[in-house]
This record gives sequence, structure tokens and C-alpha cells, in this order.
Amino acid sequence: MSWKHVFAKKDFEMLLAEMAGEHRLRRVLGPVSLTSLGVGCIIGAGIFVLTGVAAADYGGPAIILSFVVAALGCALAALCYAEFAAMAPVAGSVYAYAYTTLGEIFAWIIGWDLILEYSMGTAAVASSWSGYLNELIVSVGKLFTTAPWGLPKQVLSDPFTHVDGLAGRAWLNLPAVLVMVLVTIILVRGIRESARTNAMLVFIKVIVVLFVIAIGIGYVQSTNWTHIPVEQRVLPQERIALSLVKKELAERDGDDPSPRRVTAVAGELTARCRVEWLKGEVARLEQSGRLSPQEASARLAESQRNSPAGVLDDPRDVALVNQLLPEVQRQGAARELESWGLLGWMGLDQWLKPIDDATRSPFMPYGLSGIMLGASIVFFAYIGFDSISTHAEEARHPQRDVPIGIITSLLLCTVLYMAVAAVITGMVPYPKIDAHAPIAVAFGQRAEETHSGVLRAATVLISAGGLAGMTSVLLVLFLSQARVFMAMARDGLLPRVFGEIHPRYRTPHVATMATGGVICLVAALTPIQEIAKMVNIGTLLAFVMVCAAVMILRVQRPNVTRPFRCPAIWIVGPLGILVNVVLMLFLPPITWIRLGVWLVAGLAIYFLYSRHHSHLAKHLLHEIQEPRDESLDAENGPGVVSPE
Ligand code: ALA
Repeated sequence: MSWKHVFAKKDFEMLLAEMAGEHRLRRVLGPVSLTSLGVGCIIGAGIFVLTGVAAADYGGPAIILSFVVAALGCALAALCYAEFAAMAPVAGSVYAYAYTTLGEIFAWIIGWDLILEYSMGTAAVASSWSGYLNELIVSVGKLFTTAPWGLPKQVLSDPFTHVDGLAGRAWLNLPAVLVMVLVTIILVRGIRESARTNAMLVFIKVIVVLFVIAIGIGYVQSTNWTHIPVEQRVLPQERIALSLVKKELAERDGDDPSPRRVTAVAGELTARCRVEWLKGEVARLEQSGRLSPQEASARLAESQRNSPAGVLDDPRDVALVNQLLPEVQRQGAARELESWGLLGWMGLDQWLKPIDDATRSPFMPYGLSGIMLGASIVFFAYIGFDSISTHAEEARHPQRDVPIGIITSLLLCTVLYMAVAAVITGMVPYPKIDAHAPIAVAFGQRAEETHSGVLRAATVLISAGGLAGMTSVLLVLFLSQARVFMAMARDGLLPRVFGEIHPRYRTPHVATMATGGVICLVAALTPIQEIAKMVNIGTLLAFVMVCAAVMILRVQRPNVTRPFRCPAIWIVGPLGILVNVVLMLFLPPITWIRLGVWLVAGLAIYFLYSRHHSHLAKHLLHEIQEPRDESLDAENGPGVVSPE
């Protein structure tokens, strides 16, 4: 097999000819179903879970702007996706387009990257799903009894993540496995059924999001956006202190250390870290001329006066604080550098710090980089709009409806996200926003404060809505995963069995069941939070490639009919690349390393298997040896190719 073949491109006309072939998927989706698929895949764990950490630790109230930045990166890529999807409405999305524009090896890399986005994204959402299921059970319990309800902690997490109140290891994330089995069965049954189930779930979650906005707006206090001093922002040391104290006390006292003791010890540790941190911060600001010496000493004196440190009376607890302090400070410094992503590792934090100092305000407590880092995290909340293009083959009028679906769903979700972010940061002072279920907990706290039965019921509704939201994300993300797999198998890059369509249901049942099994395993046993970060970087990389590919095709094939043309492509394309690359740069170095490992593993599979089984490469080889053998075409499907 020649090296030249790895850069071979599928001819564009071939892609169109393939669409008319046998064994295609049914064309049953209209614009409303497509938009509903998009919204179904977009609104989920991102808004219901990730907004909490992103607002508390990275953006503050300015997380509203992070949603705008992330939406900008997505919108620019969406316009490029829409042009591609309208030109070649086949399953496999950007993978199929890359095959015609960039060549086989790049198509493989993109396909491999999409597998990361869709499969690991599905696993991450399944993992969050179990947390919300437990939240729902707990909040229903509160309606009826005073006894605490909830699932056993042993079956709510992977064995590698520390669980609060559990001294030993958890066994597996059981609800994640069960929901994935259910989703796999639904998807093997067929797209029509899945579209109907999805439409119902989308309806529920959009109603819940609107409900959150409508009710929550009444509890917003604008001072939460404008009056919290920037020094009160969350330090990485605080999170570390709390988790180290919980772990240490759980090991010493058994599964259930007294919450009061945990709070007291963690509070002391945090207070001492904060005093140390403030000394360094004030010295730095004084040095850079942002604080006068008088202001600096006044600020230090005030912090000493207000510090709650020094209240522990048990000598064992004092000893524990002294023991943990150096470790917390060491990990805190590392985490602070990590918050600059790859840019910090490159040493650019020195250059960006003054910009942050200049832009910090109660609304933007973490400065400009906080908005960018927040954007690279909440980016997860938008993942999924691109899945519409993986369903182009099932669209009734793909040229018109796919661009409509992509752009409408993205716009709708951006507006909803900004409104939800504004409501949550307005209801709760951002340092106190809950990291696991920010929306449900914000309402739950109000319910406790006001003893309102209505708000308690609202908390149940929100938990149920979060669950419905995540279920529909699982359905659509996973649906997309199976379709990318199928498209790659059809081209011979993956074993042929993955491309098989079920004779009755007309769905890629083997690809669905095989990937469903792998996702179950990953969701059950892997510390998914870490892998979830990879999903963002993988998707951002795919977006960058799409923006590049659509420009390349404009130059190489200017005359191909484009039912939807991306407006101002020479501005939109480069800007899309720029915004998405910048978001990638704000992700931590370890995430980059993991992406590298994933891509190297993919290339190994390509060179060991796919290159030798590629229909395109076989066809090219055959053309050279015996240009007119029809049988190979029959075996491999239509195969007009341009090696270039
Ligand atoms: N955008 C999807 C979510 O937030 C992946 O769950």
C-alpha cells in the first residue's frame, strides 16, 4: 500500500453517488425534528451541572459572558458545518466531509476525534445522570418524610473517585450503566422511535429551563452581581482544603466523620491559607503600583481582623491543620497555574496577570482569563449542535433543514443559558454556588429559608427536568457516535460489521451495541470528570478542522453546488479557528497530553488496520493494476477517487 494513499481523497461526486445507494438510513426528519435533536443534545449536564463550578471557581457572575464566548466559537464553526452538511448530507458528519477535502488520514483523525467527543461525552453525561437521579430521590424524600432518602453511595461512583462520607472505595456507577443499557435498546429500535422519545424529553427540559428562569428571576438580588468584593473569590486552596480534610477525617473516623468537625477543621485551614494568599496578593499589587503602601497595609490589617482563623480548641485538630497546610498550599499553587491552561505552562501567565488585575471587578472577579477559562469549561454545554449534521442522511430536505436546525438550536440554547446563568449568579453569591447540582440546590436553599412547599416541589421538578435533559443528551450524542462509526466502517476504515444496517429497524445496530458496551464500562468504572475535559478539547479540535476544511473546499472546488453558503467565509473561517484555538489553549496541559495519547492510539489503529482495509486505497491500487475490474466496485460500493 503506497504512502500516497493515506492522503487520497474521496471524490465529491462519489459522496453524492453513495447517498443514492442501497442500505441507506430512512429520510424521516424535518426541520422541527432536527432542531429538537439539536436542543436534545445541547441542553444537559453542561447547564445543569458544570455551570456551578464554572461560575463559582472561574467566571463569577461574568460566567454569563463565558457563555457568549463559547457560543461565538460554536456559532462560527456552526456556519461552516452548515455549509458542509448542506453540500453532502450523508451520515458521519465532518468525517465524511474531511474525506473529500483533506484526504483519508485527516478524515481518520477527525473521525477518531469525533468518537472521542461523542462516546466520552456520552459517558460523562451518563455519569452525571446518576448524581441527578440521586438528587431527585433525595428531594422527593424531603417532600414526604424527614428520614433521608437516597441510593447507596457504593453504587453511585467509579472506584477511583473519593466519595464524601465513604471511607472505602465505591464499587461502580450503577445508574449510569442502567441508563446506557436503556438508551442502547431504544436506539437499536430505530430513529423514528428515538426522535419521538427525544421530542418528549426536549419538551420537558425546555419547560423546566423556562420555569427556572421565570421563578428564579423573582429571587435575584442584583448586589450578588455587583457588590461581592473581589478578594472573596474562591481560591483553589479552599477546594483542596475541604477535600483533603474530608478524606483525612474519613480515614481516621470511619465512613461518616462529624460534619461539624469537617467544617471546623476545613474552615481553619481555609482561613489560614487565605491570610497567606492575601499577603502575597497585596504585595504583588503594591509592587505593580495598583495599590499604594497605605492601601496595602489597610487591606492586610482588615483581613487579619476579619479572619476566622485561630478558633479550634481540640489540639488534634490544630495538629491536623498544621500537617495539611503545606500540602494545600503546594497543590493550590499548582492549581492556580493550571487555571491558565497551556498558556500558564508556556509562561504567558506573567503577561496575562496584569490584564486580569486591570479587568477584575465584582462582576468579573477572576478577570479576563476567568471568562476565557469559564468559556472553555462551559463549552461542554454547547456540544451536540454538530450532531445534527451527523443525521443529515436521515433528513427529508437536508440542504434546507440541516442549516436551519443547527443555527436555530444554537441560538435558542445560547439565550437560555445566558438567562439561567444570570438567574443563578443573581440568586446565590457566586462563591457559594453548588458544584454538583447548582440549579436544584439554589432552589432547595430558598425553599429551606422560606419554608415554601411550592419551592420544595419546584426542586423536585428541576431535578426531574435535569434528568430528562441529560437523558435526551445521551440519546442524541450516542446516536451520533454510532453513525460516525458506521460511516467509517462503510469506508473500510473500521471492521465492516460496524457498518451493518438492521434489516427490520434500519439502524446501525452492531455499531450501537458495541459502542454502548464500551460506554457502559467507561461510565461505570472511570473517573469521568477527568475524561470529560478531553471531550472539550477533542470537540474544539474538530471545530478548528471544519473551519479549515470549508475554506479549502471553497478554493479546490469552487463550482460545487452549495445550497447553503457560509456568509463571509474568509472572516468566519479564520475567526472560528482563532476563537476555538484560544479556548483550547485555556485547557490544562494534562488535557493536551491526553488528547495527544488518544490521537497517537488512533494513528496506530489507522496504520495497523485501516490503511490496509480502506476501500479507497484498495480501489486505487486496483486501478493501477487492472483499471477495469468491476467486481471490486461491487464489493466496495461506488468508488470514484482522486488520489491527488
Ligand atoms: N451539551 C451536552 C450537555 O451539556 C453535552 O450535556
